[in-house]
Amino acid sequence: MGKLIQCKVNGESISLEVEPHWTLLRVIRDELGLTGTKEGCGEGDCGACTVLVDGRAVNSCLMLAIDVDGKAITTIEGLTQGESLHPLQKAFMEKGAVQCGFCTPGMILTAKALLEQNSHPTEEEIRFAIAGNLCRCTGYAKIVEAIQVVAKME
Ligand code: FES
Ligand code: FES
Repeated sequence: MGKLIQCKVNGESISLEVEPHWTLLRVIRDELGLTGTKEGCGEGDCGACTVLVDGRAVNSCLMLAIDVDGKAITTIEGLTQGESLHPLQKAFMEKGAVQCGFCTPGMILTAKALLEQNSHPTEEEIRFAIAGNLCRCTGYAKIVEAIQVVAKME
C-alpha cells in the first residue's frame, strides 16, 4: 500500500505515492526521470547516488523515499540555472575533473554541501568531505583542484 509524500525537488513542490520499501534513489531515477543521479553500488559505499536533502549530502540508495516527506531535495539537474552551469560544474569541466563522469553528479553535490558549510575549506577538509565519493578515473587531484577554484571565488 503506497503512501503519499510531499516534498520539493529542485525547487518544485511535488506529491507522489511511494511504496514503503522504495529508496529515494529509485524515486529520483525511475519515478521522476532524473537520471543524472547515478546508481553504483546500491549499498552506501560509492557515493554515486549522492543528492542533497535539506542541504545535507546523503546516499539516496540508503534513504527511504517515505523519509523525505516534507523535505527539500536537490539533484544535479537542480544546479543549473537556465542555460548556465553551476560554478562547480564549470570548474570540474575546466580542470579536467570529469572523465567518465559517473561519479561527477554525486561529487559535485557533496562539494556543494561542503562549500555551504565551509566556504574556504583546506585541501584536507575537501579530501575528507569527498572520502565517501569514489572515482575510478581521476586520481582525485583534479577534483580537489576544481573544488578549490570555486572555494577561492566565494
Ligand atoms: S549507489 Fe549509493 S552509495 Fe553507491
Ligand atoms: S570520472 Fe569516472 S569515476 Fe570519476
